[in-house]
Amino acid sequence: MLVLTLLGLAAFTQAAEKRAGSASAYSSNSAGNYKLSSISAPVQGAGSPGSSSTWKLTVDDSSNGHKQTIVGFGAAVTDATVTSFNTLSSSDLQSLLNDLVTSSGADFSLFRHTIASSDLSGDPAYTYDDNGGSPDTSLASFGLGDRGTAMAKLLASMKSLKSSMKILGSSWSAPGWMKLNGKLDGSTDNNNLNDGYLGSGVGTSGYASAFAQYFVKYIQAYKDQGASIDAITIQNEPLNSQSGYPTMYVYADESAQLIQKYVGPALSNAGLSTGIWAYDHNTDNSDYPQTVINDAGQYVDSVAWHCYANPVNWTVLTSFHNENPSVNQYMTECWTPKGSWNQAADFTMGPLQNWAQGVIAWTLGTNSNDGPHLSSGGCSDCAGLVTIGDNGGYTFETSYYMIAQFSKFIPTGAIILDGSGSYSYSDGTGIQSVASLNPDGSLSVVIENLFSNDVYVTVSTNSGQEWSGNVPSESVTTWVLPASS
Ligand SMILES: *[C@@H]1O[C@H](CO)[C@@H](O)[C@H](O)[C@H]1NC(C)=O
Repeated sequence: MLVLTLLGLAAFTQAAEKRAGSASAYSSNSAGNYKLSSISAPVQGAGSPGSSSTWKLTVDDSSNGHKQTIVGFGAAVTDATVTSFNTLSSSDLQSLLNDLVTSSGADFSLFRHTIASSDLSGDPAYTYDDNGGSPDTSLASFGLGDRGTAMAKLLASMKSLKSSMKILGSSWSAPGWMKLNGKLDGSTDNNNLNDGYLGSGVGTSGYASAFAQYFVKYIQAYKDQGASIDAITIQNEPLNSQSGYPTMYVYADESAQLIQKYVGPALSNAGLSTGIWAYDHNTDNSDYPQTVINDAGQYVDSVAWHCYANPVNWTVLTSFHNENPSVNQYMTECWTPKGSWNQAADFTMGPLQNWAQGVIAWTLGTNSNDGPHLSSGGCSDCAGLVTIGDNGGYTFETSYYMIAQFSKFIPTGAIILDGSGSYSYSDGTGIQSVASLNPDGSLSVVIENLFSNDVYVTVSTNSGQEWSGNVPSESVTTWVLPASS
């Protein structure tokens, strides 16, 4: 016992000294020969760039430079993810989940999951209370069903490996019987909750109360399976009404009223501490979340953003922060097509530079055909961060490594630091960077090199440190720098 204790202490001391003394560097690149690979660490001072092109970055590590506190990074657990993960042998599944949520891999801490079916579900589309299309105002027929139960169990297994992991649940459509068109998918006419738009439309509040109770029942059912839900959005992409997969249109003031008068009180009355995040859609309509914050601020303290505005403009989050300094922001959905090495790096970097406290990719896992997905529509080339092989086994895609370059080195509780020097040219080349002050006092500097050549980068901090080193072409490279005192 004594010997083990002493050895443990020695190992701890050595690790602490290493942190205090030396820097390290890890890289993942488009060519795929670096995958979270340890590369030459930066050196103190200006270094020796030789004939390489050079680039300068600054990081404000004084208290003036402190920005948002990180909650975490991760991806969406969809039906496609659950179905494909559950084809793995139990030992492969354990090893995959371990890689995803512990420091042996990406160390993800923030996940989203689909409340019933989405565009990444196999046929048929469903909710947790379809009831054959007949009204079920008391929700007597509510049930997770096979797919919901399997999803809750998978989330519970993940949570058993990391109890601090956070889960956001998002609904793609209310049950058909609660809607004016009676359907989850297949019709964009009257693709709305039957709630009389809560006064601005026709009729009464209709199914608003049942809609609120649906979330209560869902959160309780997931909790019973061991998957406690930290936050929900009441509608994925509320301004997206499409016919090929479950969608539902929700107006901004309707969303605010549903939350303020129905969903918020229902969760509270049921004793649930699950939060409610606003919006869950693109950066080109910041009036929507502003309306929800203004009118349902009692229950909503966070805004969820997606990446699909063209062009995507993450500085919208900085403007939103300036107007609403106490509101938390998250990037909750962006797809990861196999054809782009830097898509996942871009949708992580941009939000982090603009006050996001977390980033969630779409989707965590799929089979080798980027599915299964609904035959009536949905995304046919939304690759997972992980692909499950047809004959077992799993492969991490480039996007996994690109997000892990952030998630592994910017832990929960890290503080993002202000900085300068990031720049992108109109041809897409350039250098983008974000830095964090970590709970152990170290600094992480994540540098995305969008040039097709190596660049010799120098990072200067306000506390007077200077570090320089090579950043490989088309890579995301993370420097971990020792605590300054
Ligand atoms: C991006 O959004 C900001 C904040 O709303 C705005 O000031 C800026 O003009 C936008 N940029 C582009 C290129 O649309």
